[in-house]
Amino acid sequence: MIRSSLNLMVLLIAWIIIFSLTSSVSGFGTFIHNETNSYETSPIMWQYGKYIDGTVVIRIINRNPYKPSNSTEWLRPVLSLRIIYPNGTVSEIDKELEIQEFNWQIFGIFGISESPISIFALQRGYLIVRYFKASNPDDFTTYEEWGRIIDWNGNLYDEVNLGRAYIEAVRWYPSETTIVPNVDPSKGFLRIAATNVTYFEWQQYMIGDSFNLIKLSDGNIPLPQYGNFFFDTIATVDEGYCIIMANSTSSTNSNNPFEFYVTVYYFKIGYNETQSSAPKLLYQSNLPNITVFGIDCGISSSGIGQVCILTINQNNTYYYVKLDFLISGSVTKTTPLTNSPELPPNITGWKVESIPYGGYLLTGYFISGSSRTVYGYYFNETENKYSEWEFDNPSVLNLRGILLTLPNNTLLVSQIESNNTWSFNTVDVSRNHQPPKMVANFTGNKKNDVNAKTANHIQRS
Ligand SMILES: *[C@@H]1O[C@H](CO)[C@@H](O)[C@H](O)[C@H]1NC(C)=O
Ligand SMILES: *[C@@H]1O[C@H](CO)[C@@H](O)[C@H](O)[C@H]1NC(C)=O
Ligand SMILES: *[C@@H]1O[C@H](CO)[C@@H](O)[C@H](O)[C@H]1NC(C)=O
Ligand SMILES: *[C@@H]1O[C@H](CO)[C@@H](O)[C@H](O)[C@H]1NC(C)=O
Ligand SMILES: *[C@@H]1O[C@H](CO)[C@@H](O)[C@H](O)[C@H]1NC(C)=O
Ligand SMILES: *[C@@H]1O[C@H](CO)[C@@H](O)[C@H](O)[C@H]1NC(C)=O
Ligand SMILES: *[C@@H]1O[C@H](CO)[C@@H](O)[C@H](O)[C@H]1NC(C)=O
Ligand SMILES: *[C@@H]1O[C@H](CO)[C@@H](O)[C@H](O)[C@H]1NC(C)=O
Ligand SMILES: *[C@@H]1O[C@H](CO)[C@@H](O)[C@H](O)[C@H]1NC(C)=O
Ligand SMILES: *[C@@H]1O[C@H](CO)[C@@H](O)[C@H](O)[C@H]1NC(C)=O
Ligand SMILES: *[C@@H]1O[C@H](CO)[C@@H](O)[C@H](O)[C@H]1NC(C)=O
Ligand SMILES: *[C@@H]1O[C@H](CO)[C@@H](O)[C@H](O)[C@H]1NC(C)=O
Repeated sequence: MIRSSLNLMVLLIAWIIIFSLTSSVSGFGTFIHNETNSYETSPIMWQYGKYIDGTVVIRIINRNPYKPSNSTEWLRPVLSLRIIYPNGTVSEIDKELEIQEFNWQIFGIFGISESPISIFALQRGYLIVRYFKASNPDDFTTYEEWGRIIDWNGNLYDEVNLGRAYIEAVRWYPSETTIVPNVDPSKGFLRIAATNVTYFEWQQYMIGDSFNLIKLSDGNIPLPQYGNFFFDTIATVDEGYCIIMANSTSSTNSNNPFEFYVTVYYFKIGYNETQSSAPKLLYQSNLPNITVFGIDCGISSSGIGQVCILTINQNNTYYYVKLDFLISGSVTKTTPLTNSPELPPNITGWKVESIPYGGYLLTGYFISGSSRTVYGYYFNETENKYSEWEFDNPSVLNLRGILLTLPNNTLLVSQIESNNTWSFNTVDVSRNHQPPKMVANFTGNKKNDVNAKTANHIQRS
């Protein structure tokens, strides 16, 4: 704990020095990349991973023009990674993974795009790619999830069987399994997988000397059996992990004030520990007729705990509650976001991301055709005030709505790709914020993959 805080502090100081030297004059910019090799269909920025030094890896996909496209979109069968170094150089990696063809597709289930292939950033120079294998591709019950490390030069390391795929009601949900790298990614990651309707399981992996994956520990957590629930998993600053679960039960018994309709629990999993902590209650509400609609968590922008935004719905109106809590599970603050900007009714919740120099970026979106319309606001919690982001509100982003905050407080917002080009609009957020403070303004390495967050919910009715 102490060592990692020191590391983070050293990094923070390094960033401040670097970026006070290089801080650019103009707040806005664009970042455009032309692909070296042209392909028949446009690239689509699908997923990204970020590194603590500001390097970003983007996975781009291309629709396969030789396959029919209907509700399933077939892809060009190569893993295309684009590494954007802090100096702006892009290196292109196109790797055939020699995996079964069914991995090279994108399909939608209940409005969520499911991709069998997924990437997660680890320590500088490395990432993990996960995919599936099946002894019989026509039989989902034979599907297994595998993972292996790939480096920034495209070298592949030993692969490992991570576990079974999640199948429910003869549907395959690749995004019901996800990976959350440690706050020090060289320490490994946590894999979380819904195994069936009653349990999800987790496994901790560490990275061996030859970049092989070694399982450290595993465990199970029972899932709520009634109503709705959502969960989110984050790496904690003490090099452990935590799972935050929000659930609600609909009850018609409005006469019983002791019946809780929404509860949020916290499970802590320490590094290399074999058991998760007993669940700790973070929040409960007995307002009548409320349903949980989402939970989105990260490391708080004060750097000393975690923060979640809980979205609940009462009688078709959305409400947001911000929960601040420590690694111990003690809640330091519960803030109803009462004066939050009004969102169109077809947007079902805020995503929260802490900004490196303090404060939060709240975004909400709806999908229209091949783009995503995104609303963005900064939230200053000291003043309990919202301000619009620098871009148009709303702005039209690429299909995946990729937006990233870099450690130097630059915000990158994806644009719709064209032909052989993909690009971002950028803004230096710190220009609209106070200069960085030296104390406790650091936000650790948040979840690497924002896109994975729409997953991890199962709805029962
Ligand atoms: C990308 O290509 C366009 C023309 O197709 C050209 O105008 C532009 O300068 C190129 N950008 C870069 C960064 O190479
Ligand atoms: C989509 O096309 C494939 C053939 O490539 C076919 O097997 C599948 O049934 C089609 N799906 C739908 C929903 O039409
Ligand atoms: C922040 O980093 C990105 C890439 O890592 C770079 O393009 C940008 O110019 C930097 N911004 C500032 C203000 O230094
Ligand atoms: C940018 O950084 C990368 C990685 O450190 C390096 O390989 C590349 O040569 C650099 N490019 C320029 C133009 O400095
Ligand atoms: C669900 O998985 C758990 C743990 O893997 C197992 O103990 C339980 O029997 C399973 N339940 C069902 C209904 O398959
Ligand atoms: C949430 O799930 C837990 C565990 O299954 C259960 O004890 C609790 O009653 C549930 N809360 C609600 C509001 O459904
Ligand atoms: C994990 O715990 C086991 C058992 O306590 C121990 O033998 C092992 O060395 C630990 N591994 C790491 C990487 O800390
Ligand atoms: C719920 O909304 C409906 C229509 O908007 C309204 O008629 C009803 O009174 C509301 N119920 C509660 C409990 O607020
Ligand atoms: C409960 O909320 C739903 C919408 O979420 C609404 O349709 C229904 O009328 C509400 N019931 C009561 C008793 O207010
Ligand atoms: C969502 O609401 C906005 C604003 O009211 C509207 O322009 C847009 O068409 C709606 N989109 C969908 C998918 O319903
Ligand atoms: C939030 O507002 C307070 C009071 O005006 C200010 O001191 C602080 O720097 C602001 N925080 C950010 C991140 O802009
Ligand atoms: C993309 O290609 C099409 C046809 O080849 C061309 O008409 C269009 O202008 C190109 N778009 C851009 C932004 O270069």
